Amino acid sequence: MSFRVLNMRSWFIVTCMFATAPSAWTADVPDIGPLPPVTANPDNQPTPERMALGQALFFDNRISGSGNMNCSSCHLPNVGWTLPSAFSLANEGFVERRSAPTLINVGYNKALIWDGRAPNLEKQAIGSTTNPVHKGQNMDTLMKILNDDPKVVAMFKAAYNSKPNPDDYGRAMAVWQRHFLVTGDSAFDKYMKGDKSALSESAVRGMAIFKGKGGCIACHNGSNFTDSDFHNTGLKRNPEFDKPEFRKILAFDAKRMKLDDPDNVTDDPGRYLVTKNKADWKKFKTPTLRNITDTAPYMHDGRYQTLDVVIDHYNRGGDGVENQDPRIKPLGLTATEKADLKAFLESLWGPLPSLAM
Ligand code: HEC
Ligand code: HEC
Repeated sequence: MSFRVLNMRSWFIVTCMFATAPSAWTADVPDIGPLPPVTANPDNQPTPERMALGQALFFDNRISGSGNMNCSSCHLPNVGWTLPSAFSLANEGFVERRSAPTLINVGYNKALIWDGRAPNLEKQAIGSTTNPVHKGQNMDTLMKILNDDPKVVAMFKAAYNSKPNPDDYGRAMAVWQRHFLVTGDSAFDKYMKGDKSALSESAVRGMAIFKGKGGCIACHNGSNFTDSDFHNTGLKRNPEFDKPEFRKILAFDAKRMKLDDPDNVTDDPGRYLVTKNKADWKKFKTPTLRNITDTAPYMHDGRYQTLDVVIDHYNRGGDGVENQDPRIKPLGLTATEKADLKAFLESLWGPLPSLAM
């Protein structure tokens, strides 16, 4: 039986039985390991026609109200499918208060958007298109534009046997992201599949720290290094949020998410925006760590420029904020241990398919 046809759970068990993990794996969380094939949405199986349509729409400026933006404007293919700035770009008249997340391996994520407000990639694509802060496009207007373009009409027909319509628009965007933006083997994956020369000694020690003294695996677990859950990692309030333009967007979004007293929201409430539960105050989704060397700056507001600064954050036990996760506590890593942990994170880079345009 091939490993590829096993389901995730038994796949992890098999991995644990055969891989010689550098430290005892005792955590009650899925172990880290190579990516299984991405799971298709049964209602949106990939076909070459669907993939071609999704890619064409992703790069089409007509999906924005201004006609100046497409999905790649904030998810740049050559910069880890994110932006190299702390805060994302935004539509005219707005600023973004968050960093654009990478779309690499996004098909593996159960939690989408830093606060998890999008249920799936299909719906996210429509939300992103109509969101006034992002593309501010009207779906009726967009469908009219697409239905007037014979080339696009033919592509929808071939892909979904339909005329351009919002549901199949969302499906095409989703199917392409889910099945195209998937990383191939990293040095870490090769090592886990048996090539013991693929990782340096430093990276192997770093893996043991990741799973042991560093406690990183508690949240960055499974094959995509995320538990698809939300945590408060102890980041203090971003001082940029004192600026009027950020106050405006924080209030705008709080209003949209129906918070009480939105005009007095002076910080990004994170997952609390979705659940209104105090326990979720300033929790953000656990991002993947794959291809992490391509996706700086880091965290939901891009406050950290380098992996060294992120590691220092965890090593000092975060900033000590309200509702901070108890697992974010001083780690006492030495300089060598920090370098080893970084070498391990660097080993998670894997190639993406090239974009034939
Ligand atoms: C103006 C910049 C901008 C544009 C254009 C844009 N995005 Fe994004 N994207 C973002 C930001 C910022 C977030 C995070 C939003 C948040 O957490 O509130 C995001 C989040 C996402 C996510 C969630 C990823 C995850 O793992 O959480 C997906 C998927 C996504 N965008 C896809 C798209 C698609 C598809 C398009 C085109 C229809 C698009 N984006 C256009 C800025 C942009
Ligand atoms: C309690 C859960 C938890 C633990 C433990 C944890 N992380 Fe994280 N990590 C997160 C979350 C959640 C974020 C996003 C935080 C945010 O932006 O507010 C994150 C963000 C990151 C990022 C930035 C990723 C990006 O794309 O912006 C890196 C790198 C990272 N963690 C590495 C580590 C390392 C290394 C360790 C161990 C020393 C660790 N994490 C421990 C939950 C955790």
